[in-house]
Amino acid sequence: MRSLHLLTVPEKLLHTGFIVLVCIGLLCAEAYLYVTHAGLDGKTGVTLKDIQISYYGNRDSSKLQTVLPTMFTNAGIPKEQWPQLKETIDNWVVGGQTKVGYETEIKPILAQHCLMCHSVAMSKQLHNPPLASYEDVKAVAKVDTGMSYNSMLMTGMVHLTMLGVIFWVAGWLFLQTRVHSQIKAISVITPFAAMLLDFSGWFLTKQNPDFAWFVLIGGALSCPIAMLEMGVALFDMWIGLPKFLLQRIVTEVPKTAVRAATA
Ligand code: HEC
Repeated sequence: MRSLHLLTVPEKLLHTGFIVLVCIGLLCAEAYLYVTHAGLDGKTGVTLKDIQISYYGNRDSSKLQTVLPTMFTNAGIPKEQWPQLKETIDNWVVGGQTKVGYETEIKPILAQHCLMCHSVAMSKQLHNPPLASYEDVKAVAKVDTGMSYNSMLMTGMVHLTMLGVIFWVAGWLFLQTRVHSQIKAISVITPFAAMLLDFSGWFLTKQNPDFAWFVLIGGALSCPIAMLEMGVALFDMWIGLPKFLLQRIVTEVPKTAVRAATA
């Protein structure tokens, strides 16, 4: 194919339409990721901790344990009793959440302090989880282990195939620009490598939260680089490029001409 700047106007329009639409799509994807990941740790913005919570989960604490202070307040329990109650509930959650433990230790606490709002009937009115049976309580005592492998595979399937095609087209357009060939070589492979890093990061982070870096770096380099490639292609097509990006044209001087000149 000819260099992008040499294309006819209809050809340029075709590429421009593609680039604009896909870049908006990728920006939507980034925005969606941002709102679903940001603030999980209570701080604004997407932090390493947010990514760890998404994929590794928050394994120190179940939902039941996290909300206890709020719920003790709801139930009007005097502060002196909190440590004792909390310890009983913590021990039961960590100790395997046995049925026997539930009957002897947990059920009495819930009956006295919680069921006025968490009975099956009340929970429908208040839109809170019922805490009326062993199964109910176990459901909120589950430790959060992050995104399931099923959803990782599902998300991976959509992500890798869609983005693979987009990255290929973006890279191909970028190759038709007048940009220096070393820059081209590095940038066309980067989105693919970054996406693999991101994807493997999900599975590794689920095993060990220290790998959240993989997701952060992979995410930062995949879509943004592809968008950059398409942006540069757009500029080269319609406007031209700044000098530092351009391939220097080295014109080969034939040897005979050199000899003739020096003779
Ligand atoms: C005065 C009513 C009331 C009492 C008493 C009460 N709760 Fe709740 N609870 C709620 C409401 C309303 C919600 C849902 C809104 C929310 O999360 O704050 C809720 C939510 C919850 C949730 C789910 C939180 C989530 O994020 O999904 C748990 C677990 C819970 N309560 C446990 C308890 C326990 C344990 C007790 C007793 C120590 C208790 N509650 C006492 C009203 C109450």
